[in-house]
Amino acid sequence: MKKLLALALSFFAATNANAQNAQESAAPEAAAPKILVAYYSWSGNTKEVAEAIHKNIGGDLFAIETVQAYPEEYRETTEQAKKEINAGYHPELANKVADIAQYDVIFLGSPNWWGTIAPAVSSFLASYDLNGKTVIPFITHGSGGVQNTVSTIKEQCKGCNVSDNPWVGFRNRTFGLKGWLKDLGYIAK
Ligand SMILES: Cc1cc2nc3c(=O)[nH]c(=O)nc-3n(C[C@H](O)[C@H](O)[C@H](O)COP(=O)(O)O)c2cc1C
Repeated sequence: MKKLLALALSFFAATNANAQNAQESAAPEAAAPKILVAYYSWSGNTKEVAEAIHKNIGGDLFAIETVQAYPEEYRETTEQAKKEINAGYHPELANKVADIAQYDVIFLGSPNWWGTIAPAVSSFLASYDLNGKTVIPFITHGSGGVQNTVSTIKEQCKGCNVSDNPWVGFRNRTFGLKGWLKDLGYIAK
């Protein structure tokens, strides 16, 4: 009789565990976030970093372009940029992201220009409703580091969740980029 009872109990335990497993595996998986990698680049460094991010995590890649190209010459460009930044000027953009609403996460790249983001990136931020989206800045610089770039993105991107873990890299260097993407959770550790 005791043996029979033990057999019945172990049968009950086994079927119960199977039912639980079935429930766990039936739970729906969270959909992967839709990613946009958008960047402005005048001399190619930020473009290289954007392409490296895109290569590692996928999503859509978007180059922010201005209607009026900046001068070819470095000094002329720095002078024009200084005037634009001081005036809070937002240059007109030549292209637009198709259906920005589809994206959950925007990796947003800018060179450091006079300690802040390039005016074209300000134009980008002013062009869309990014409310509720996660924005992950990536900044390239010529030795100044992050300065006011990320804080300006925070100011200008109303309602966005701007990451406190931006990429800040000297020119086109990508050493450590994969580790950064792992820390953020966009590639497996
Ligand atoms: C108009 C202009 C202003 C710049 N101002 C700064 C600056 O204030 N601090 C800094 O570290 N680098 C500055 N740089 C250097 C760029 O941030 C650096 O070269 C960057 O990687 C360029 O990115 P890009 O090749 O994508 O345009 C400036 C470059 C330009 C063209």
